[in-house]
Amino acid sequence: MRILSGIQPSGVLHIGNYFGMMRPAIELQKEGETFYFIADYHALTSVRDPEALRENSRQVALDFLACGLDPERAALFRQSDVPQVTELAWILSTIAPMGLLERAHSYKDKLARGLASTVGLFSYPVLMAADILIYDSDAVPVGKDQKQHIEITRDLAVKINETFGQVFKLPEPKINPQTEVVPGLDGQKMSKSYGNNIDIFGDEKETLFASKEEIANMRDRFKKGGTGYGDFKKELFEKLWEYFSPMRKRRDEILHDKSHIDNVLARGAKRANEVADQVMQRVRKAVGLR
Ligand code: ADP
Ligand code: TRP
Repeated sequence: MRILSGIQPSGVLHIGNYFGMMRPAIELQKEGETFYFIADYHALTSVRDPEALRENSRQVALDFLACGLDPERAALFRQSDVPQVTELAWILSTIAPMGLLERAHSYKDKLARGLASTVGLFSYPVLMAADILIYDSDAVPVGKDQKQHIEITRDLAVKINETFGQVFKLPEPKINPQTEVVPGLDGQKMSKSYGNNIDIFGDEKETLFASKEEIANMRDRFKKGGTGYGDFKKELFEKLWEYFSPMRKRRDEILHDKSHIDNVLARGAKRANEVADQVMQRVRKAVGLR
């Protein structure tokens, strides 16, 4: 079984990312061959600062390794180290019905949050389908917000198979029902872009105590028992601090080994390219290229 997932380097990772995607992905290392990547092409739809994109990409690699990704078992790589994926995205886009993409929730949500309406943002699910199909993936661990993207991937794979013969496997989403949507500080889905997140490796002072405004706000909203809620929140943060402390330690160790992240990413890219090259040969042949 081949297991694959990706995460955008569009900001600092939070505990919604951890419980929704990273922890399940790390647990699956025992179940099969695992491919995990940093979706930097996807992040270009929202990040316009080249230095920030490069730095975030390294941070995602660091955090993933600190949380338990084992580079002896899993291939960890940058999406852009396998540029063939953009060729496959083009091929898929030639059979992708406009209506299918127009129904995608995440495009509408992102416009509502103020992201620029670009062709890249609209065709985001096509690139994601290419990411999944180019590695012949069987299972994709993600949070619930990504479920529709995997359904779109399956639809595109079926369309290619119907048009050109059996080319692609159909991947299955793997969504943990207990952590499918981790709520943020305001009760909505925790997200980098909603400002309601608790970072995995945030600083202790920031994390241990909710800000005065937040507590005041909660008191208003939860008139009855408001103070109790604040106390409970403090306790929760203490638990989280404790939970992540071995990972914090590991993170410091990795930071001391300067070439570790680059070596891991280079090895991961090599492995990912081997598989992607094979699948692309099959695809090119099937559709009539070369
Ligand atoms: P964000 O919404 O913070 O930008 P991403 O879109 O980069 O997060 O998500 C990366 C992975 O983490 C995806 O698999 C996504 O489903 C998962 N994820 C993100 N936020 C949550 C959450 N609040 N609960 C569960 N899973 C989440
Ligand atoms: N869209 C995913 C997210 O925002 C990231 C992603 C890109 C991904 N390509 C993927 C996830 C392929 C799983 C499989 O979180």
